[in-house]
Amino acid sequence: MALLHTLGLRAAACEVRHESPCKVIPCFWRGKYFSSGREPAENQVTPMLRHLVYKIKATGPITVAEYMKEVLTNPAKGYYVYRDMLGEKGDFITSPEISQIFGELLGIWFISEWMATGKNAAFQLVELGPGRGTLSGDILRVFSQLGSVLKNCDISIHLVEVSEKLSEIQALTLTEEKVPLERNPGSPAYMKGVTKSGIPISWYRHLQDVPKGYSFYLAHEFFDVLPVHKFQKTPQGWREVFIDVDPQASDKLRFVLAPCVTPAEVFIQSDETRDHVEVCPEAGVIIQELSQRIALTGGAALIADYGHDGTKTDTFRGFCGHKLHDVLIAPGTADLTADVDFSYLRRMAEGKVASLGPIKQQTFLKNMGIDVRLKVLADKSDEPSRQQLLQGYDMLMNPKKMGERFHFFALLPHQRLHGGSHPMNACQSKPSPSPVAGFGELAWR
Ligand SMILES: C[S@@+](CC[C@H](N)C(=O)[O-])C[C@H]1O[C@@H](n2cnc3c(N)ncnc32)[C@H](O)[C@@H]1O
Repeated sequence: MALLHTLGLRAAACEVRHESPCKVIPCFWRGKYFSSGREPAENQVTPMLRHLVYKIKATGPITVAEYMKEVLTNPAKGYYVYRDMLGEKGDFITSPEISQIFGELLGIWFISEWMATGKNAAFQLVELGPGRGTLSGDILRVFSQLGSVLKNCDISIHLVEVSEKLSEIQALTLTEEKVPLERNPGSPAYMKGVTKSGIPISWYRHLQDVPKGYSFYLAHEFFDVLPVHKFQKTPQGWREVFIDVDPQASDKLRFVLAPCVTPAEVFIQSDETRDHVEVCPEAGVIIQELSQRIALTGGAALIADYGHDGTKTDTFRGFCGHKLHDVLIAPGTADLTADVDFSYLRRMAEGKVASLGPIKQQTFLKNMGIDVRLKVLADKSDEPSRQQLLQGYDMLMNPKKMGERFHFFALLPHQRLHGGSHPMNACQSKPSPSPVAGFGELAWR
C-alpha cells in the first residue's frame, strides 16, 4: 500500500471532481436492471428495423454477430454512432461516471506499471471505447497531480472510438477545445488536439491505426459491446442462432437455428461442455493485436468488464432507459451487450504475453487502496459531496451491485512477471519483479 500512498493518494488529496451539487448517484447500471426510465416503444418500426428487414429479405437470415454490429455501429443508423447513451438520462451508467475514485486508481495503476518496468522515456495511453472521456479525464488529472514523478516522460493520448457523437463529447471533456481541434475524417487519425494539461491527443476508429510504441491500453466496458455469435447444442451438433423476419408479422424479428454447420463454429472449443455458447471473434482479434504490440514494444493492457471465465451460457441482452430490453424490439434504440468470456481472452493472449485475472472489481479496487482514497476525499468534502462519494463507493464495491459482477484482467510482457525487464550486467542476478498493483496486495520495496 505504501506505493499508492507515495504515488497518488496523498499527492492527489484535495481535488474533487466537479459534479452538480444535488446530483444523486443513480442506482442502475448495465450489468442488471433496477429502475424505470425511458420506455422503449414496443414494436416501434425504427429505421434500423426497416433496414434489417430489407437486408434479411434480400440475402437471408443474419447471425447474431451481424445483427449486433449493424444495430450498434452501422455508420448511418447505429445506436452508438449518433447519441449519448450514458448517464441518468441515457440507457446505462458506468463506473467512471459513478465515482472519480475509479479513474484515479486506474491512473495510479498505469504509473505503477510504468515505474515497475523502468520508467520509459515516453508512453502512449490508449483507451478503447472511451464513452464520454470521463475515465481518461480522471486518469489525466492523476498524471497532472503526479507531475513530479512523470516530469521527464513524454505522454500522448490515443482514443479508439467509432461514435461521432461520443468523440465530440470526449473532445469537449478532455480538451475544452482551448486549442482548436484538427479534423480529418478521411484519415486514420480522424481528430487531433491537445488536452487541458497540454498533452497531445488523437482519435482513431480502429486499434490497428494507433501508432505502435510503448503503450498502456485501457478497455472499460468495451469488450461487452463487441458482436457475439451464439450457438445451441442440438442432437445434430452445434447450430448457430440466426435472426430472421417473423413469417407471421413482416415488421417483427425472431430467432431461428441454422439448418447446417456455419463457419463461426471453429471458435467453439472441442471439449466444450455447455449446451449454449457465445463466441466473440472480434474480441480475439483485438486481444491478439494488443498482445503482439505489448510483446514487441512493452507496456500493459488493463481490461475491466462484466463477464465470466468460460462458464456462462446465454448472456445476450439489451438495455434501454436503465431497464432490460428485448434485443429484437425497436433495434437501434437500445444498447446490446453480452458478458465477456475472459477464458477466451486468455487463450487468445497465450504464448505472446502473460495475463492476470480476471479478479473481482471489489478485490482489485481494495488492493489499489480505494478505502484510503475515499477517506482522504470524504474528509475534505461537504456533506452532500460526502454522501455522493459514499454512495459511489457502495455502487462500485458492494458485491450485490458492481463489486462482484465486474472483473479486471491484465496483459503484461512475460518478463514483467518473471523478471528481467531492466538491463543487467553479467554479474548481477536476475532481479525479482515487483508485484503487479491491484492483482495482489501491494508490499512495495
Ligand atoms: C459501453 S460504452 C463504455 C464507455 C466508457 N468506457 C465507460 O466506461 O464509461 C462503449 C464505448 O465503446 C464505443 N464502441 C462501441 N463499439 C466500438 C468499436 N467497434 N470500436 C470502437 N469503439 C466502440 C462506444 O461508442 C462507447 O464509447
